Amino acid sequence: EGDVHISDVDFSFDGMFGAFDQMQLQRGLQIYTEICSACHGLEHVAIRTLGDEGGPALPEDQVFAYAEYYEVFDQALFDGEGDFRPATPADKFPAVTSVGAPDLSLMAKSRAGFHGPAGTGLNQLWYGMGGAEYITAILSGYEEEPECAADANMEGYYNTAFAVGGFPESCVDEEGHNMVLGSWIAMAPPLYDGAIEFNDGHANDIQAMSEDTAAFLMWTAEPKMMARKQAGLTGVIFLAILSVLLYLTNKRLWAPHK
Ligand code: HEM
Repeated sequence: EGDVHISDVDFSFDGMFGAFDQMQLQRGLQIYTEICSACHGLEHVAIRTLGDEGGPALPEDQVFAYAEYYEVFDQALFDGEGDFRPATPADKFPAVTSVGAPDLSLMAKSRAGFHGPAGTGLNQLWYGMGGAEYITAILSGYEEEPECAADANMEGYYNTAFAVGGFPESCVDEEGHNMVLGSWIAMAPPLYDGAIEFNDGHANDIQAMSEDTAAFLMWTAEPKMMARKQAGLTGVIFLAILSVLLYLTNKRLWAPHK
């Protein structure tokens, strides 16, 4: 595996008080729907959760309308023979296996963005695991093939954030180090500047759309993140107050003996 280029992104959900940005999740959903869903499924995500508070929070009628966009196979139809029907909010997003693209439901939790310094992983303490940064970097990390690969006839597309793809011998130096970042990925660049016009008029360059998609996939991977952070914070506040009370109790108990 070679080095990769992954930068920290200032996501709204970072940090102790972080929260998902509802509008950003809605834009990410739109990008997933119009572009990524052609190749990638979200088979662990229930469509009804698009209406959940703390998530994209679509109004109920929009969740119903959205579900109909997908067809699902229903084994119960035709006396058990099964048939396709339009999805309802009770269904999950369909799996997509046609081109061998991985399911994206948990992608933001199954990849880490930060491994440094020097492979110790300590950066994850300051910047978080970086799953969303990883996705952002993959989507915005396509570059012209480096010169060293000119005669290598590589399959796929050169991506500075993808560590595990094909890599030409011609780009490895005498000491065995990769001379360029990243590797070759089978996914063609899915985004281009202006690919989607957003209703909220939000920026639609590659970087902005990459971040929106990554935020949405962070939500699919951890839909209860906000509840988790809130519970954690409540716990910390509770313990802080308890410590003060115990300290005072302790003082009082021992006061007569001092
Ligand atoms: C791989 C995201 C659109 C085909 C991936 C990976 C991610 C991703 C995160 C995995 C990288 C890894 O394994 O670490 C997205 C997003 C898209 C999108 C967010 C929409 C913006 C597409 C489209 C296609 C596609 C439209 C098909 C035309 C693939 C394939 C792989 C892949 C074949 C496997 C690549 C490999 O292992 O070399 N995608 N993708 N993706 N994607 Fe996409």
